[in-house]
Amino acid sequence: MPSHFRPWHRYLHWITAICVISALILVETHDFAPDGSALHKDMMAAHMQFGLAVLLLFIPRLLLRVTSTKPPVEPPLPTWQKALSGLTHLALYGLMLALPVLGLVATQALGHGPSLFGLPMPTLVTPDKSLGHTLISLHRTLGNIILWLVVLHVAAALWHHFFRHDTTLRRMLGPRRKDAS
Ligand code: HEM
Ligand code: HEM
Repeated sequence: MPSHFRPWHRYLHWITAICVISALILVETHDFAPDGSALHKDMMAAHMQFGLAVLLLFIPRLLLRVTSTKPPVEPPLPTWQKALSGLTHLALYGLMLALPVLGLVATQALGHGPSLFGLPMPTLVTPDKSLGHTLISLHRTLGNIILWLVVLHVAAALWHHFFRHDTTLRRMLGPRRKDAS
């Protein structure tokens, strides 16, 4: 049994984590910049780019997930903790797909769909303001749910590491240099 997640599984986890956390910080703070200012617009544009990067990484991430065995946690977790973490991860995967797709469809329906790092994105809907507003409000609700799930997820990882002293976090950080050599 492996003692750590496979390297690409770990890299994609941390790259996605940076993208999701950046998207959240940008959208939660963009209202501090004056409405209509260049900074306000740039922060929203960056929110969308980080969000679309999550979508791009989703397929390789899912493929790695379904083709790898999860390294066991030492000492083993009680069943309720395994079930809770499994549910949280499932919800995180679902939201990492749903949020960028909703964001993209909603902005296209509102008539200003973004490109991805300059590359045009496929047009998924024709402009329809009322559909756009409905989808953006769903996107906001799900966005606030992922925010709290991420807080819970990070708190759980730190609790396992610093208080339960198990290998949950070390499996995702990878082998230490001296162990790897
Ligand atoms: C993992 C990816 C994403 C996450 C976690 C995320 C999260 C969020 C959250 C939490 C909000 C609500 C902020 C608030 O009102 O408090 C929001 C709003 C928004 N998001 Fe995203 N989002 C993601 C991807 C995207 C993408 C790909 C797009 C567009 C292509 C997008 C466009 C928007 C827009 C237009 C708003 C409304 C902003 C406003 O109210 O001024 N998002 N997002
Ligand atoms: C500093 C931030 C983060 C830390 C310390 C962290 C830590 C971890 C750890 C230790 C695991 C392994 C848990 C286990 O197997 O029981 C894990 C798995 C996971 N994390 Fe994070 N994480 C962070 C941010 C994020 C973010 C922002 C997301 C996405 C929204 C995310 C999504 C996931 C998912 C979906 C898994 C399940 C992996 C799998 O089984 O394929 N993580 N994380």
